[in-house]
Amino acid sequence: MTGGPLVVLVGPMGSGKSTVGALLAERLGVAYRDTDADIVAAQGREISDIFVDEGEPHFRELERQAVATAVAEHTGVLALGGGAVLDPGTRALLAGLPVAYLSMDVEEAVRRVGLGAARPLLAVNPRRQWRELMEARRPLYTEVARVVVATDERTPEEVAQAILDALELKDV
Ligand code: S3P
Repeated sequence: MTGGPLVVLVGPMGSGKSTVGALLAERLGVAYRDTDADIVAAQGREISDIFVDEGEPHFRELERQAVATAVAEHTGVLALGGGAVLDPGTRALLAGLPVAYLSMDVEEAVRRVGLGAARPLLAVNPRRQWRELMEARRPLYTEVARVVVATDERTPEEVAQAILDALELKDV
């Protein structure tokens, strides 16, 4: 058996990566880890502050380092931030891993995340920004994904089950 995460979750903000990730970890009897939380812990500040103070490129670099560390040492369920796939180095780190893309359509995103006040990328005109964000990122999520699981009109439990089925993972 090789090491590495059992499942890596990618997908837009609000697609349920943390909720589904925690459920999956419980079902698989493994730990859940989240690179956003790793960055906050390592930097001692909120992601929105890093974005505002040092800019997105700096955040993406921190994120690439966090993903590199996590894929090297974590053997459970790993969730990445919604924009992690934008960085080519981060995408390269995901090659060959069991990556599940949680997809979500734009209307569902607007409903779930709404104005996204706590999310720096959605501060102005959320609907248009969502559309642009999804158009730019969809090919990248697809590129890194081993499986794509639609989350629209599904409960987190149903999404978790769909991932287990798609990746042919057995729960405990
Ligand atoms: C981001 C998503 C966030 C977080 C940061 C940037 C993005 O993660 O990494 O605010 O670019 O989509 P979640 O997807 O966990 O909200």
